[in-house]
Amino acid sequence: MNYKFSYFLNEMKPSEIRELLKMASTPGLISLGGGMPNPGTFPSAVLKQIMDNLIETRSAQVFQYANTLGVQETLDIIPGYLEKTQGFKCTPQNVILNSGSQQGLYELGKVLADPGDTIITEEPTYVGAISAFNANALKMVGIEMDDEGMKTDVLESRIKSLIKAGTKPSFIYTIPTFQNPTGFTMSLERRKHILELSNSYDIPLIEDNPYGELRYYGNKVPPIKSLKGGDGVLYLGTFSKVMTPGLRLGYTIAPTEVISKFNLIKQALDLATNTFSQYVAYEYIKQGSIYKQVALNIEMYRKKRDIMVNALEEEFRDGSTWSKPDGGMFVWLTVAGNVDTKQMVGEAIKNGVAYISGQAFSTTGGQKRSMRLNFTYGDDEQLKEGIRRLSKTFIKKN
Ligand SMILES: Cc1ncc(COP(=O)(O)O)c(C=O)c1O
Repeated sequence: MNYKFSYFLNEMKPSEIRELLKMASTPGLISLGGGMPNPGTFPSAVLKQIMDNLIETRSAQVFQYANTLGVQETLDIIPGYLEKTQGFKCTPQNVILNSGSQQGLYELGKVLADPGDTIITEEPTYVGAISAFNANALKMVGIEMDDEGMKTDVLESRIKSLIKAGTKPSFIYTIPTFQNPTGFTMSLERRKHILELSNSYDIPLIEDNPYGELRYYGNKVPPIKSLKGGDGVLYLGTFSKVMTPGLRLGYTIAPTEVISKFNLIKQALDLATNTFSQYVAYEYIKQGSIYKQVALNIEMYRKKRDIMVNALEEEFRDGSTWSKPDGGMFVWLTVAGNVDTKQMVGEAIKNGVAYISGQAFSTTGGQKRSMRLNFTYGDDEQLKEGIRRLSKTFIKKN
């Protein structure tokens, strides 16, 4: 058979991350590559009790198809949870439950843009967002960042030049808090500025916030959606880092006229999200277990973050730089000298450590001297040893 593959596949490349996940099982290899939560944070006992109870008492509902937008109890409980944790108000009519926020990202490209349209992201940005946008044949313009997040003055001039060239961006996508991959958090000033730009140029703003609750240091910076004028912001959330990623549950908060369009697309994608997961999440919030578990996750991850940052200070005294995140799951390491971290992956694996090269997160094929390091998955000793092996790979000791 001579298969004629679709045009949407043109920009889609096999993800370095998927390749790395395969190697994660190599004996002795320390993987700082994946973006996985630590299995020690999975609330197994609580989930077992919730699941047993649901099966015993509500099997007729929990194993049935759900409405496309979501199970009503779950839709109803999310606004209160978000008001408590994120400080913004919404109603159940503003919510759609998805199979992970990853599905929400894909839906965005279908709902707010046409193939070939230009959108704006951070540079670097989340590799899964790059895949979702590529799968919709969108053109990404990445805006550079520093440790206060996306540079919004650069954003402003890019918006102006894009509009002048007749390619007004269809939306702006940002991960303002503990960004994946850099760990950077956008300052309040820039949050206000990006919101002002979105409103004044009439370009929808998408705030993706999977890590917001995992803060280890410093004061909370309010989500953009909670700021004055933030009602039109589309907000993506997930249970992956506060419950488990395997239950595949995320949500998008949007104005009702946008939710109705997501509804149409989701009917075509999968009819509805996993009903059982939605009931589990509902009970997990209702019982208050989510708040207790997040507090435990923070304790564990703060220690791991410190171990990684301290190990980098010990091992990389050669002018390399790295982010010192106040939360989330990642450190962004930029190696001194003229190195290409993608080309060095094989050498690193020979030395028993894996990472994801900066290029995987770039909209332009840049970020060659950088890499993303995950500090949540490995055990404490592996994190230290992993950084030692990295320094052996990158620093030529005499
Ligand atoms: C920034 C960002 N958005 C979305 C996702 C997707 O998460 P999920 O589909 O598990 O909700 C991730 C996962 O790592 C992420 O880092």
